[in-house]
Amino acid sequence: MSNLKEIYLRLMNESRCIASRYEVPEFYRRFKPSLAISRRIFFYNPLVIHCRELITPKYADDYGHGLQHATKVSVDGGAIVLLEGEKYFTVQADLERAVVLVQLAGLLHDIKRTEHKHALAGSEAARDLLHDFPLSSAEINCVADAIANHEAFSEPKSCETLTGQLVADALYDADKFRWGPDNFTHTVWYMMSYQKIDITELFGRFPWGVDGILKIKDTFRTNIGGQYGPEFIDLGVRIGKEIYQHIQRNIDALINEMEKT
Ligand SMILES: [Fe+2]
Ligand SMILES: [Fe+2]
Repeated sequence: MSNLKEIYLRLMNESRCIASRYEVPEFYRRFKPSLAISRRIFFYNPLVIHCRELITPKYADDYGHGLQHATKVSVDGGAIVLLEGEKYFTVQADLERAVVLVQLAGLLHDIKRTEHKHALAGSEAARDLLHDFPLSSAEINCVADAIANHEAFSEPKSCETLTGQLVADALYDADKFRWGPDNFTHTVWYMMSYQKIDITELFGRFPWGVDGILKIKDTFRTNIGGQYGPEFIDLGVRIGKEIYQHIQRNIDALINEMEKT
């Protein structure tokens, strides 16, 4: 007999099949070189490697905001810093250091995702964890402040330094890119399963959820995010609508199956 988790995992796989027929967001097509540099830093920088090793056991992927989510936020955030930072940094090493900081923030930003006020709780946890890292107190503040400021629909505090502002804004935008296709191919299914939401309730929430997602389009904070972020969201909504129709076609069978669990 299938259980709720299995049903949602199956719906997630079906959603991935649907999403695979859609185009790749322009951000990934246009900025391949910056994404490649960001990925290289993510997988080879000793601080980022150390951080990833420390947090891997702490992350529970079953809430949809685990290591896979954190990795995407880190790599995309690093690319945004590289693209935006070209204007501010004259020394390449300083720019790459800012990439390391946003990647540390990306890895740690949802470490307390299941807690109330998770951004503030995550910021404090990041401070504790980074205390033993070879980072200056200004760099630790930069990472912790970025995490504290990453929540949607809340007024961000401005950061003390240009690097801090860039890192915070890039973290926010890379995290909100995940409200696009990733939401429907990953996050929503893990969250529904974790919260034990039944299919009727999910089906009722779906149209509202899609409309709510659209509101994030006006909140991107970097130029790159403002330019390329809305496409992620529109793409996610198109995919979400097709998934909704797919569930609609199968709703009776799904309700029957869930009643047996
Ligand atoms: Fe978060
Ligand atoms: Fe996140």
